[in-house]
Amino acid sequence: MGIQINEENLLFTLNTKRTTYQMHVDRYGYLLHQYYGRRTEGNMHFLLTFQDRGFSGNPYEAEGDRTYSMDFLPQEYPYLGNGDYRRVLLKVADDLGTIDCDLRYESHRLEDGMFSIPNLPAVYVDDTNADTGANAQTLVITLKDDLLKLRVDLYYGVLPKLDIITRAVRISNSGKTSFTLEKAQSACLDFVTGDYDAITFYGRHCMERNMQRQHVGHGTLTIGSTRGTSSHQYNPAMLLVDHMATEDYGHCYGMSFVYSGGFKGEIEKDQYNNIRMQLGLHDELLAYPLEPGQEFWTPQVVMSYSSKGMARLSQNFQRCARRHICRGKWRDLPRPVVLNSWEACYFDFSGDKLVELAKGARDLGVEMLVMDDGWFGARNDDYRGLGDWYVNEKKLGRSLGDLVNEINGMGLKFGLWVEPEMVNEDSDLYRKHPDWAMTIPGRHPVLGRNQLILDFSRKEVVDAIYNAISKVLDSANIEYIKWDFNRSIFNVYSHGGLSQGQVLYNYVLGLYDFLERLNRNYPDLLIEGCSGGGGRFDMGMLYYTPQIWCSDNTDAIDRARIQYGTSFMYPVSSMGAHVSAVPNEQTGRTVSLNTRAVVAMGGTFGYELDPAKLSEEEKEQIRSQVREYHKYADLINHGLYYRLSNPHEDEIAAWEMFSEDGKEALISVVCLAVHGNMTVNYVRLRGLKKDCFYRDEATGVVYPANALMQIGLPVPVEMGEYQSYRWHFVKV
Ligand code: GLA
Repeated sequence: MGIQINEENLLFTLNTKRTTYQMHVDRYGYLLHQYYGRRTEGNMHFLLTFQDRGFSGNPYEAEGDRTYSMDFLPQEYPYLGNGDYRRVLLKVADDLGTIDCDLRYESHRLEDGMFSIPNLPAVYVDDTNADTGANAQTLVITLKDDLLKLRVDLYYGVLPKLDIITRAVRISNSGKTSFTLEKAQSACLDFVTGDYDAITFYGRHCMERNMQRQHVGHGTLTIGSTRGTSSHQYNPAMLLVDHMATEDYGHCYGMSFVYSGGFKGEIEKDQYNNIRMQLGLHDELLAYPLEPGQEFWTPQVVMSYSSKGMARLSQNFQRCARRHICRGKWRDLPRPVVLNSWEACYFDFSGDKLVELAKGARDLGVEMLVMDDGWFGARNDDYRGLGDWYVNEKKLGRSLGDLVNEINGMGLKFGLWVEPEMVNEDSDLYRKHPDWAMTIPGRHPVLGRNQLILDFSRKEVVDAIYNAISKVLDSANIEYIKWDFNRSIFNVYSHGGLSQGQVLYNYVLGLYDFLERLNRNYPDLLIEGCSGGGGRFDMGMLYYTPQIWCSDNTDAIDRARIQYGTSFMYPVSSMGAHVSAVPNEQTGRTVSLNTRAVVAMGGTFGYELDPAKLSEEEKEQIRSQVREYHKYADLINHGLYYRLSNPHEDEIAAWEMFSEDGKEALISVVCLAVHGNMTVNYVRLRGLKKDCFYRDEATGVVYPANALMQIGLPVPVEMGEYQSYRWHFVKV
């Protein structure tokens, strides 16, 4: 396992438990990609072919060898300038605006452990995850452009046990004149052949991460976000899978971006049927000047490969995110069951109302009350108050400290909603510091939810908001915050002097700086990320917030689909999911309390309703749901996750959490459709130990694993919409 280097041939081989990745410096100093796939020994140079092809240029030193062209050879770090007409990762303009470069191999070095990136999130290995992170290594390959004095360090981190490879690029200027990065992406994968499907995750507010699978034909498939966040519209992750791949069959590749700002992902099939998949920063509004001596880091991309279908690929990403991206005290702990005030009362609450909610929550067995939007400044609606992070004691009828003490006194923890990156024009903060908001001088800004973005590319702005919010945190026993972000960025402009092409990247650095301070100074605080639900659900945020509110849509049926899409890259322990009241606030649909809980238990479980409005019967049902959640919390949060259906196509949504020791499985099924004289749906289980038997805990019936995995478990045919079922199987 680990990284092997053949110094003589400059052949670099990255081995994980089940995968091999290989690249090679050729005779002209270009770094060519040779192989990524199932674990193997040997030199895969034979996979590269050389042909004289019209209109594909040849490097000058090839001296008439027209069979060598960067226009079709697979590469590690394509850039504009060497005759490659496909999508590239790097575009550099010199001080006269000429876009060109020529990067050749200069050196390499091997390091123990997983590399980190200054001021950006990255996969990490330390004492707390040394088991799954064993034998982590980093390879750095340096390329150089002699004319521009541009140096590029390609970082490859290997997590052998989890079949994960991480990549990032450090670009530096060792010359005497400046140049500008106009595109600077993190990673690509070149394929010399293959019939593939692209899987991406599109969406919108209240309907995030819908899985879309499409055949890769000629042309370029592009996903991305120019919104300053990773966005509801596309998740910053892509899969490329065999056209025939299923959950448990076929070659599958994936890339996930460890970054919370704009991104671009592209999959291009070229004239010779080569395919390139690449991911990194969006190049729109990127023009990042590098002065002599300066450096720029691209954010990290996490990659994985599975030769056995999508389930394993997802499990690789889920484990990596859960153990090597998420950090802190809460990483491995079951999260408290919360009751959130938002759908219970929106802005319309008082301290007494919150105390009443807390009483109701305690009676249900809930462990934490979260006071959502509306507790600060003049915030009684969404037109004002953002930026004024001082407690509205008049509304609460007491200090925050007193309120929290009262709620803690009942045995409940207390959490708070914040939206630190925003300001309303109608706020004291904006009146005092209008230049802290991002607006273009001389123009009216585009408003979103009536608010403006604070310029987090400026340290003084981050400092001021950090100080204001930490004052609130210090004033009471606050054990959780929900960090929200409720509009997209537009009118990119900093009144602090940065050029426009730098602002979006530096903005994200400012966001991470703030979150890092919170993590460092409040190590016990549980932070849940949020952006109007799941508008910033990415591995970058998970580095600071081990869970993220999955969607503002709490409708169980839509949620089953949203959580399905989310599961391709992210662990269950990261998906904020609550049971809310019916008819649902976002869809008007009515679904049974049981089904709502089955779905919410596919994430960090909680409630978002007013207990006073529940019947005695419903209360009793909720008490038993909370008990059940505790019983299965470990399996839900740390088990291997299997998707058992495709809820966009099938009549059921079904998933399984399976303990790594093979001893138990929790199967959840929601019926999405009902018909007359209904045909039976069978749920084929996955991962069970072959030739073993499993007992259904509820009925005592014993089932052979082989039949459960081959034919499946028949889902009962019952009258009524949206029935749901759960089975807990224990190995006998
Ligand atoms: C966003 C969040 C909601 C809620 C509101 C408050 O939309 O996603 O859950 O916190 O903001 O304004």
